[in-house]
Amino acid sequence: MTAQTVRHAEIFVGFKPIDDLHREFEEIVNALNDPAEADYGEHLLALHEHMLRHTALEERLMREEHYEHLGPHHREHERFIERLADMRRRFDAGDVDGVRHYAAELMGWFAAHAQAMDAPLAKWLRGH
Ligand SMILES: [Fe+2]
Ligand SMILES: [Fe+2]
Repeated sequence: MTAQTVRHAEIFVGFKPIDDLHREFEEIVNALNDPAEADYGEHLLALHEHMLRHTALEERLMREEHYEHLGPHHREHERFIERLADMRRRFDAGDVDGVRHYAAELMGWFAAHAQAMDAPLAKWLRGH
């Protein structure tokens, strides 16, 4: 098993509405990292739209179930979306290497977020 596939196995947290979003995230990031699919602008836009929906759903679940760790989880989502918006601006300004580097690191960040924040949330949701 490669490092990449280990990471991919870490993104599923055992709560279907969240896992469906995580599968969608994985598909977009795979396209972004596929050298045959070179349209970074289109994939970054798809990722941005996806993440706004993804974080909105998780945050709605947290509010509905009065989850106590909403604050830090929300802040990490915000930081991710700000960085993504920044990468879109950099791509528009011609920084293709910056975007390539960013794309290569996305699954690592996402696996860490899924394990540290989405997995405890999923566990809480399963119990409610
Ligand atoms: Fe998530
Ligand atoms: Fe999250």
